[in-house]
Amino acid sequence: MKNIPVIDKSILDQLNANGISYQTGRARRSFSDFKLQIGTDLLAYVLKKVTRKYLDLKPATIEKLPGPRAGRKYVLYAHVPFCESLCPYCSFNRFLYQEDRARTYFRNLRKELQIVADLGYKFESLYFGGGTPTILVDELVETIDLAKQLFGIREVSCETNPNHLTPEILNQLKGRVDRLSVGVQSFDNTLLKQMSRLSKFGTGEEVLRRIQDAVGVLPSINVDMIFNFPSQTEEILREDIRKTIESGANQVTFYPLMSAPSVSFAMDRAIGKVDYSREPAFYRIVNEELSQVYRPMSAWTYARKDITMIDEYIVEYEEYVGVGSGSFSYLDGSLYVNTFSLSEYDRMVNSGRMGISAIRKFEKHQQMQYRFMMELFDLKLNRTQFKQDFNQSIESSLWLEMLFMRMMGAFSKTSKRDLLRISPDRGYLMVVMMREFFAGVNILREQARQALAPNERLMCLVNDKVVS
Ligand SMILES: C[S@@+](CC[C@H](N)C(=O)[O-])C[C@H]1O[C@@H](n2cnc3c(N)ncnc32)[C@H](O)[C@@H]1O
Ligand code: SF4
Repeated sequence: MKNIPVIDKSILDQLNANGISYQTGRARRSFSDFKLQIGTDLLAYVLKKVTRKYLDLKPATIEKLPGPRAGRKYVLYAHVPFCESLCPYCSFNRFLYQEDRARTYFRNLRKELQIVADLGYKFESLYFGGGTPTILVDELVETIDLAKQLFGIREVSCETNPNHLTPEILNQLKGRVDRLSVGVQSFDNTLLKQMSRLSKFGTGEEVLRRIQDAVGVLPSINVDMIFNFPSQTEEILREDIRKTIESGANQVTFYPLMSAPSVSFAMDRAIGKVDYSREPAFYRIVNEELSQVYRPMSAWTYARKDITMIDEYIVEYEEYVGVGSGSFSYLDGSLYVNTFSLSEYDRMVNSGRMGISAIRKFEKHQQMQYRFMMELFDLKLNRTQFKQDFNQSIESSLWLEMLFMRMMGAFSKTSKRDLLRISPDRGYLMVVMMREFFAGVNILREQARQALAPNERLMCLVNDKVVS
C-alpha cells in the first residue's frame, strides 16, 4: 500500500498500551485504517462546524436570479416534491402526493421555466429530481418538452421509483429522458419492509425484474442503493451488490445511510439507529465488489466499465439554476434557495417572480473550498482551472486542506501536474466530506420545514396509514 509509514515496534507497543490492538503481521493495513479513522473523525468534526457557517442563509426579497454570464455553462435542475408514500429515512423536500396540488405545481414549474428563459439562460443538461418526478407522467412530459424548446437541452436525467417502471411510463419517457435513476435502496425484502417500500414499490424480486426489463429501453439506467442500514448484515450487502450487477444497470450509486434531525425519530423507530463505525468497512466491500464490473465516477457513483467512456476533462457544471419548491441555485459564488412552501411557491410564481426565498453569498475563500470539495468528490481536481478561475494556486490558497489531504495519503501517485486524483483506497475521505455537507443541507431543509403552515407540515410527516 502507498503512503504508509513503516511502524516500528515501540509505536505498536504504545498503541497496544493505550488499548488499541495491533498485530505486527497486519500492522501496515491496520495502521492505515487507524490513520483513516482518525482523519475522517477529524474531518467530520471540522466539516460540521464549517457547513453550518456556510449555510447560514439570509431571507431574500429578490424577484429573479441574475442573468447568465457570457462563456459560462450551467445545468438546470427541476424539483418535483411529491411521493406516493414517505420513506422514514428521507429528509429531502417531499410531500405526500395529492393530484390537484401536483397538477398546479407542474403548471407553476413551467411558468418558472419561462421566467428563467426570459433571463436569457441556455442549458444542455436538465436534471429532474424529487420526490418522484414521474408521479404525473403527462405533466412531466409536457414540462420536458417545454424545457427542450426553451433552452436547447440535449440531455435529460430523471429520478423515479420502481413502481413507475411500467411499459406505459417508459414509452412516454422514450426519446425524452436519457438517464433514468431508479431508487431501489436494497433488494432485501426485510429491509424494504422496514423502509416502508415493500408494499408500495414491490418486492426485491419484482424490482430486479422491472429494472432488467427497462434496461435498453432508455439509453442509461442508474440504480440508487443505500448501505449501512442498521439491520443490514455483510451478507445482505453482498447480495444487494450482486443483484445490482445482475440488474444490468449501467450506473450505480451507493449512498451511505444518513440520518437527519427531521427524520431521526421515524427512522430510529422504523429501521433503527445508524452505526457510523461500520461505514468504512461496508464502503470497502461496496468498492471492492463493484470494481469487478464498474469503475468509480465519484466517491459513491459507479459506471459500467464496458459502456462508459470517461473523458478526463469532461465539462463539469459547477453552476446550476434550480426551479421548483425547495430547489437550490449556485451562481457566481452565491447560493439561492427557493421556498419550501407549495402555497408560497404558487403565490410567488403567479405574481411573475421566481420562488427564491433565501440567499447566501460565499466569500472567495469559501468558493475555493466549495470547488475543492465538489471536484474531489468526483475523485479529481483540475489545478490549472482552479488557478485560472481564482488567480491563486490551490497550494497557496488552501494550504491547510492540501496538507491534510497529503497527510492522509489522499492523492494518487498517478496524479498529473494539472490533475490531482484521489487514491483508490482513499475514496472514503470524500464520502465523509459529502455526508457532512449533506448533514448541513438537511439542517437547512429542517429550518425551512419549520416555517411551513400546519397543513403543509402535515403533508411531509411520515404517515403510518399511508406507508404501512
Ligand atoms: C431523494 S430520492 C428521490 C428519488 C426517488 N423518490 C427515490 O426514492 O429514489 C433519491 C435517492 O436519495 C437517496 N436517499 C434518500 N434519503 C437518504 C438517506 N437518508 N441516506 C442516504 N441516501 C438517501 C436514496 O437512495 C434515493 O433513492
Ligand atoms: S426516498 Fe422515499 S420519500 Fe424520499 S423522495 Fe424517494 S420515495 Fe420520496
